[in-house]
Amino acid sequence: MTITSNGFQSGFGNEFATEAVADSLPQGRNSPQRVAHGLYAEQLSGTAFTAPRGANRRSWLYRVRPAAMHGTFERYEQPHLHSDFGDGPVTPDQLRWNPLPLPQAPTDFVDGLYTMAGNGSPAAQHGVGIHLYAANRDMQGRYFYDADGELLIVPQLGRLHIATELGVLAVEPQQIAVIPRGVRFTVSLPDGEARGYVCENFGALLRLPDLGPIGSNGLANPRDFLTPHAAYEDREGQFELIAKFQGHLWRADIGHSPLDVVAWHGNYAPYQYDLRRFNTIGSISFDHPDPSIFLVLHSPSDTPGTSNLDFVIFPPRWLVAQDTFRPPWFHRNIASEFMGLVHGAYDAKAEGFAPGGASLHNSMTGHGPDAATFEKASAADLARPDVIAETMAFMFETRAVIRPTQQALDAAHRQRDYQACWAGLQKHFAPPRG
Ligand SMILES: [Fe+2]
Repeated sequence: MTITSNGFQSGFGNEFATEAVADSLPQGRNSPQRVAHGLYAEQLSGTAFTAPRGANRRSWLYRVRPAAMHGTFERYEQPHLHSDFGDGPVTPDQLRWNPLPLPQAPTDFVDGLYTMAGNGSPAAQHGVGIHLYAANRDMQGRYFYDADGELLIVPQLGRLHIATELGVLAVEPQQIAVIPRGVRFTVSLPDGEARGYVCENFGALLRLPDLGPIGSNGLANPRDFLTPHAAYEDREGQFELIAKFQGHLWRADIGHSPLDVVAWHGNYAPYQYDLRRFNTIGSISFDHPDPSIFLVLHSPSDTPGTSNLDFVIFPPRWLVAQDTFRPPWFHRNIASEFMGLVHGAYDAKAEGFAPGGASLHNSMTGHGPDAATFEKASAADLARPDVIAETMAFMFETRAVIRPTQQALDAAHRQRDYQACWAGLQKHFAPPRG
């Protein structure tokens, strides 16, 4: 049994107000002596109380029981999920993986999380954890929250029904969901199986990028971000609350559903976005811009212009640039790049990068198109435009080096021959004689 959606409110980071039962929201105050209908008032803050107004995020929840009511937490062992990215040597090799295999045994979203890589830490409040998930069972009587970071969920296979304290998200591949730090939720799988990517952001909350000379429209438009209306369940039973706290999972008994928020208002709330709504911008003359032009959301760091996390997509688009090598160029960046593929093929790789797969190119590690792509694009007829259709690749890009976990390095599904994709690049150098 899951809560059904009450629909959505539109806009990124807006001050929303929503109630599933009429006249539940207090008017003119947040914490009246007695809340309507016998509800409890509870504030959930996502930024420091004193954060500047433009960055300040918090919501007021009006609920059947306060979040304080649950049993004692004890450690919950899920050996594939953690935030320990080590401080030892990290290989500068290019790395690539096949899709995470779907589970054979019954596995829900929490048990299906598998940490691939990361940097920083929840304690330091910067960096990211990068996970994949592969699941085949609904979270049955289980509720989860992540105190370490907000969760950017990128489904690749199967839809996710995500019932949260603040309402219901429903996403399919090519859509994303963002669950704020601390918000409790449960995931069910309408298609029976699901796989995808999760970026756990330990740093500043994801926000829309500034647009600079692009102007007031373009890239991800604010009104396409959808936040749910309040939806609740008033349900008692033997349930389980799982917390991720400082890199480890904990569990506690809870005698009621924590998804019992009848009304809420504020600007700290889950949201979803359809990546197909992204207004893709590129060159109409020559060259192509840096991939920052494909930025959907970012988490700023303390250094201006430098991100803790950039979420970048490579969506369908036209390529029209003249006298230009049209695919992504060869490059080495100071930033580190973890890539995934939701759908279709990625235009810099002829083969080997499958939907559900992943690659990691760390700081100053050379990479770019494979040999087959280079030869094809170097000889392409530029008199006609190319269209890249039926694709959706993405990147979690960070200022800090992304450290692969030991399980990711040891995984049977890691492609140990990935570097061979560049081995066939021919020497073309032919200086003029004399
Ligand atoms: Fe790259």
